[in-house]
Parts: sequence; C-alpha cells; structure tokens
Amino acid sequence: MHTLLLVDDDPDVLATLTRSFRKGYKTLSANGGEEGIEFLNEHPVDLIICDQRMPNVSGDQVLSHALQVQPDAIRILLTGYADVESLLTCVNDAHIYKYVTKPWDPAELNLTVVRALEALVLKRNLDTAREQLETAYKDAVVMLCLAAEGKDQDTASHLYRVQHYTEALAVAMGVDKETAAHMGLMSMLHDIGKLATPDAILKKPDKLTAEEWEIMREHPLNGVRILGNNPFYETAREISAGHHENYDGTGYPHGLSGNHIPLSARIVKLADVFDALTTKRPYKEPWTMESALTHIESHAGIMFDPAMVVELKKLFIDGTLTRIKSMF
Ligand SMILES: [Fe+2]
Repeated sequence: MHTLLLVDDDPDVLATLTRSFRKGYKTLSANGGEEGIEFLNEHPVDLIICDQRMPNVSGDQVLSHALQVQPDAIRILLTGYADVESLLTCVNDAHIYKYVTKPWDPAELNLTVVRALEALVLKRNLDTAREQLETAYKDAVVMLCLAAEGKDQDTASHLYRVQHYTEALAVAMGVDKETAAHMGLMSMLHDIGKLATPDAILKKPDKLTAEEWEIMREHPLNGVRILGNNPFYETAREISAGHHENYDGTGYPHGLSGNHIPLSARIVKLADVFDALTTKRPYKEPWTMESALTHIESHAGIMFDPAMVVELKKLFIDGTLTRIKSMF
C-alpha cells in the first residue's frame, strides 16, 4: 500500500484530503509546513500533496526539502491562487510532478494520484532491473579477470588494488567520478590477454628466452581481441593495448609515446607497477611506498607520464594509497 503525505495548514482542507484518500492508501496528515518537513524526515512516503500558501514554511519549501530527503517521492502542489512566481519557483526548485488549483475536482485529483503512482512503480521496477543488470555485468568482469589472473601468479587483491589506484589517479588527473569508476573497473581487464598465453611461459620459474618473451609480449593485443568490439569495453581495450607502452616510446606493442598513449593506459601502467613494487612476489619482498615512489620518480618521462607521477605522490602524501592498500 502506498503512503501519501498530505500537508495543509487549514484543518478543513486537510480533513477533506484525508477523507478522499482514505481507501486504498495509508495517509499521513501534517498541519502546516513545519510538521510536513518533520514527517518527511521520519517517514518514507510515496507521494506528497502540499498546499502552497502556509505560514512560516511554504509549500515550495516543503517540496524542495522532499526533493532532498526523499527524491523518489512524487510531489504535487495545491495552490489557492494564481501565484505565477511561486509556481515557477516550485517547478524549478522542487521539480514538482503537477500543481492543482483550489478548489479541485476530487475525481481528477484521485486520477492524478493513481497515474503518478503507476509511473512511480514503473520507475522503481526499472531502477531495480538496472541495478541488477549493473551488478551482473560488474560481477562478470570480475569473474573474467579472476579467471585470467588465476593462470598467473598474482592474486585477486592485486586486481582490486589496481582498480582503486586507477580510480584515484583518474580523479586526480581531472577525470569525472563516474568515468574514473568505470576506468577502475576496466583496469581489472588489463592482463586479460594472458588467457591466450601458454601456462608454460606464464608460470616458468626461470628466465624467459627471447622467443618466449615475444609470446609474452603478445598479451596486450590478445586482450584487445578477447574484448571484442562491444563499445562498453572500449576503455578496457585501450588499457589492454597500452599498459606496456612507455612514455618515451620504448614500450610495446606499438611504441607509442606521450599523449599518444591513451590516458587510461598511462594510468593503469602506473597503478600496476606501483602495486607490483609495493607487494610481495615469489621472487621479492614488498618495497615500502617511499622507495617505490623514488623508483617511479626516477622513471618519470621515461616509463611514466611525469604529471601523473606528481599526482601519485600527492595521493601518497594525503594517505589515499595507504588506505587503498589496507583495504585489500
Ligand atoms: Fe600486462
């Protein structure tokens, strides 16, 4: 059953409204704007019908507050007079669904409420479906990466750390939060091409021969092939292809340099190397973050984008890198 919040300072109007929505709804009646705001802070509601002209707290203030605390709830304004200015304020500030002028036609108001709630149910269903779909594809990305990583020596926590270092570096480089989060998720796919690398090479305890290195160096472009041509994986393809390029053009597979290497790939390269240095591997003890940063700084402009190295250092100083490392 849907919950309606009815707000009016006139007890007669409030009683009439409550009566007309007695059946089929749970109603909350607030005497005036202040009580309306109190109710909004305490009870989840599906729809609000609110009078505009009330002493102290007006209808547009109540509905603007509703937009902040319960943005999902439908907002309907009752106006007793043609106050164009306050209506405009309300439409702009409180994003109201509809305004109804007093005196209203009860059947019409009832229909408005029914339609609005139908739309609300549809929207909520759609939101749930989208959330499920988002979780499913994110899980699929992680599963795929773990499968690829399982072939290699590294652990799942390496992937999660790289994901978060990437996201933090992207934000530091001026990328908007949503894109940075996507970049982080896609960074987990950077070595997906290793699925096509023979285990005998991936897990070889000794040094690789020149021929084996050639095969190892195919993993960036194998990754691009594995990721196909779905636009959703565009960033992942950039990262896979570019995460072994060097800033000075001495990397592989294409020998790209500077800004010709996509930003996402430059970020993941730095995140990946930083994590490799600061974690324990079968052949080495973990380096401290300070010594890893000193090493990275000495390769700024050679392997890494120098501007990015500066940002990495800032993320160390403000504690972000330590916080991420302690999470996984
Ligand atoms: Fe790689």
